[in-house]
Amino acid sequence: MLDLIYHLPEQLQNAWVVGRSCSVRKRRKVDNVVITGMGGSAIGGEIVKSLLLADTSIPVMVWRDYRLPPMVGRRTVLFASSYSGNTEETIAAYLSGRERGVQIFVLTSGGRLAEMAAGDGVPLIKIPSGMPPRAAIGFMSIPILVVLNKLGLCHNYEDDIMETEILLKERMNFWRRRASALGNFLFKQIPIIYSMSRVLDWVGYRWQCQLNENAKVIAHHGCLPEQSHNEVMGFGAPDFINKRIFIIGLFDKKSAHHRTLIRFQEMVKLLRGYIAGFRIYETEGKSLLARMFSLSVFGDLVSVMLAKQRGVDPLTIPRIDELKGSLSRRKM
Ligand code: F6R
Repeated sequence: MLDLIYHLPEQLQNAWVVGRSCSVRKRRKVDNVVITGMGGSAIGGEIVKSLLLADTSIPVMVWRDYRLPPMVGRRTVLFASSYSGNTEETIAAYLSGRERGVQIFVLTSGGRLAEMAAGDGVPLIKIPSGMPPRAAIGFMSIPILVVLNKLGLCHNYEDDIMETEILLKERMNFWRRRASALGNFLFKQIPIIYSMSRVLDWVGYRWQCQLNENAKVIAHHGCLPEQSHNEVMGFGAPDFINKRIFIIGLFDKKSAHHRTLIRFQEMVKLLRGYIAGFRIYETEGKSLLARMFSLSVFGDLVSVMLAKQRGVDPLTIPRIDELKGSLSRRKM
C-alpha cells in the first residue's frame, strides 16, 4: 500500500493519458453532471465535484446508491465509476441511466460494467486493473476531469496535475515521518476528523475510509462549522470513551472562513476534559487540486502507519469481500 501511495504521482500522469484517449462527442446542452459509484471509486467523483464547485456553475453530484435521483435526465452527463466494474449499486445506477437516455461514460478497469458499456456502445474509459480501488484515486478522478474539459464543462487541469505530481514527490518522505508520529497518537484512540472548508469534506471522509479499510479502526468524519452546532454536545458520553478520542482538524487557508479556525480552537478548549488530544494540519501547494491531495495523501500515509503499528495488513478488506460475496448469492 505504501508503494502504491508513493507511486501516486506517476498514476496521476497515466490517468491524464487515459482520459485524453477517450473519444468524446458533445451531444446536447448539459444541465448537470452526476458521478455514480461507491467507496474508493466514489471518492474520485468527490475530487471532481470539489474542483468544479470552485470553477463552474454546473451542478455536480456524487451519487452512492442503486437508483438514480429524478434530476438525472437526458441533459445529464453521467459517469458510472467502479474500479472493479462489478459493484452492484453502480451497475444498477448505470442501468437506470441507460433507461433514461442519459449521456453515459463508464470508468472502470473491467468487469460487468466494461462488458455492458461495450455491448451498449457507451464510451468506456478503461483504466489498468490489479490495484485496490482505494489506491486508484488518480485513475478514478483525473479521466473524468479530462472528459468534462473535452465537453467544455470545465477548464484544463493539466498544470494543476503537474503541480500536484511535483508536490507529492517532494513532500512524500516528510509526510511519511509526520504520519508515523500521528500514528503513535492515534494508537488505541478513536480518530475524529473535522474538515474546515467544503473542498476538504471529501478529504476528511477519505481519512475516515482509509483508517477503516487500511488500519481497520473505527473513525469518524465531521464538518466544521456545522458540527460545532450539534456534535460538540455529544462528547463525554458514553463515559468509557472519555479521553479516547483524538481530534484532527484539516485546514485550508484559501478556502476556509477565518472564523472556522477560531471556532475549532474554541471548541477543542471546551472539549479538553473529554479528548486525548488534537492536531491541526494545513494544506500545502498552490492549486486546489494540489492542496486537496496534500492532505489526502498525508491521511493515506497515516492509515498505513497506523496499520503497521497495529500489525494489520492494509491491503486486505476481508469483511467487505465477504459482504459482497454473500450479497452476490442473494437475488437482486
Ligand atoms: C476497496 C475499496 C472499496 C471499493 C468499493 C466499491 O479498495 O476502497 O471501498 O471501492 O467496495 O468497489 P469498486 O470501487 O470496485 O466499485
